[in-house]
Amino acid sequence: MKKRIGILLSGRGSNFEAIARNVASGVIDAEIAVVISNRPEARGLETARKLGLTAVSLPSKGLDREVYDRMVVAELKKHQVDLVCLAGYMRLLSAYFVREYHMRILNIHPALLPSFPGLDAQHQAIEHGVKLSGCTVHFVDENLDAGPILVQTTVPVLNDDNADTLSARILEQEHRIYTEAINIVLSGKYHIDGRRVVLD
Ligand code: GRF
Repeated sequence: MKKRIGILLSGRGSNFEAIARNVASGVIDAEIAVVISNRPEARGLETARKLGLTAVSLPSKGLDREVYDRMVVAELKKHQVDLVCLAGYMRLLSAYFVREYHMRILNIHPALLPSFPGLDAQHQAIEHGVKLSGCTVHFVDENLDAGPILVQTTVPVLNDDNADTLSARILEQEHRIYTEAINIVLSGKYHIDGRRVVLD
């Protein structure tokens, strides 16, 4: 049976779209079981509906973190999700969520972690004056942008870059490496040694 992916997003959803394209073309051998958003107005939810996928709006406003995460996990389990992909999901996960999907949650971050975690990573990179930035796909633990790293790639930071131009250059690579990371996890051909993800 094909593995079942659950996508969590809060906004535009371009990483989700790239994943959906690669699932449709068979580059990723899995199916998208459900797309969930904590923001009812997220464009990614609309895209999911247009693609004929199951799209669920679960507003998080005003709810305690774990109470909310219990609702999300219940929805993921209802759809028999094996692998959770955070794609622009603007929430920290509770210990409960991380335990329920231990080492089965991935996130993409638009910087070379551990540099520039958190919000506005591209702006942080420009302000710091780094010459290279990039993006990172990592397993998710309870800490912000902190779990073991699966795939990273670099992009140059140019003299006349602003956060928008750098973001666009990074985003192109995000769309490529998220699929690469998902395929590593789906293949099962890796092990985790401390913080290191080692490909077998
Ligand atoms: C991406 O830059 C991703 O790295 C970050 O949030 C952004 C989401 O973009 N976590 P999109 O919604 O996938 O277009």
